[in-house]
Amino acid sequence: MLSPKESVRAVPAYHPPLAGRDGLRLDFNENTVGCSPRVLEKLQRLTADDLTKYPERHAVETAVAGFLKVKAAETLLTNGVDEAIHLLCQTYLGPGDDVLIVAPTYSMYRIYGMAAGANVISVPLGKNFGFPVTELKQRVTSRTRLIAIANPNNPTGTVATCDQLLELVRAAPNAAVLVDEAYVEFYGQTMIEYRSDSANLFVARTFSKAYGMAGLRVGVLIGNPEQMSAVRLVCSPYNVNAVALASVPEAIRDQSYLAEYVGGVLEARGRLQNWLVLSGIEFWRSEANFVLLRVGSSKADSARFVEKMRLRGILVRDRSSDHGCEGCVRITLGPGEHADRLLEALPSVIEECSIAQGVSRR
Ligand SMILES: Cc1ncc(COP(=O)(O)O)c(C=O)c1O
Repeated sequence: MLSPKESVRAVPAYHPPLAGRDGLRLDFNENTVGCSPRVLEKLQRLTADDLTKYPERHAVETAVAGFLKVKAAETLLTNGVDEAIHLLCQTYLGPGDDVLIVAPTYSMYRIYGMAAGANVISVPLGKNFGFPVTELKQRVTSRTRLIAIANPNNPTGTVATCDQLLELVRAAPNAAVLVDEAYVEFYGQTMIEYRSDSANLFVARTFSKAYGMAGLRVGVLIGNPEQMSAVRLVCSPYNVNAVALASVPEAIRDQSYLAEYVGGVLEARGRLQNWLVLSGIEFWRSEANFVLLRVGSSKADSARFVEKMRLRGILVRDRSSDHGCEGCVRITLGPGEHADRLLEALPSVIEECSIAQGVSRR
């Protein structure tokens, strides 16, 4: 009987709750408003001819490289950051190699690492979800071939400093070090400028979050030109579809739209965090477009909270199963009215949940 290879049989199934997402979607860290109107206009002008041809990535790749102030040879457009992670696993990992990640973090590093036959070693984040640079460095060996760090991290919203990341890059010269900057627009600090001194450093970006184009699936992988030539060998020439490619130049041209959206989210993040402080609710200061908070002590508590929010038309994500996140939920922020709706619903939901848990709150 046909059987998948052993490394794939060991991969845990990952089913994010994507079905029936009606309501205010604060559950997947997407843009809550939508992409730039320039992108939609461009999509309406697409012709049958545009769709008949196989997509040609190079011109858009060059435009994105110019926007990021890097060379085209250092840049690869991918089918979301997810494909960038997959390609790095394909390029660098074999059976018996080690992948280092932190816990909790984004799920796909483990999934693609395991599928490639590697051992995935996860190092818990420190106190208050601090970045465990010393512990990570201690786990680096000659078998370490990939280190994947989301910065800001998902689901905690916490960050590693550039110095900490550089320390790690230098401690593991035989490993590809991926700094996944999916939420960089909400943070503002990037590792891109360090790529020329560190041939093993890769940076990933996405159009799925701040740009509001998760449905189009476009990411960017940036790295040393020689390493990128190797990554290109395992990448389909048609990995990013024509509709997505047509959208990207419009999206990067409309920086005022992006800036306004990001500004609105940062304001909302400030409002939510202030409210959480005043309410005495445990949370972690976030540098991304979401905040992780503790609404109880168990999965039952966080599930109750998610359900009560859903009944008010607001979707948030239960993160109770993540390492160190018992009773936690992650709430994505949207600007203006989206933040108003969240902050209107939260006090009564927290109150109802506290009553159910027998907790008294000030
Ligand atoms: C840290 C991180 N990286 C990557 C992704 C996925 O990005 P993309 O939609 O570009 O594949 C996510 C989505 O939640 C994420 O949180």
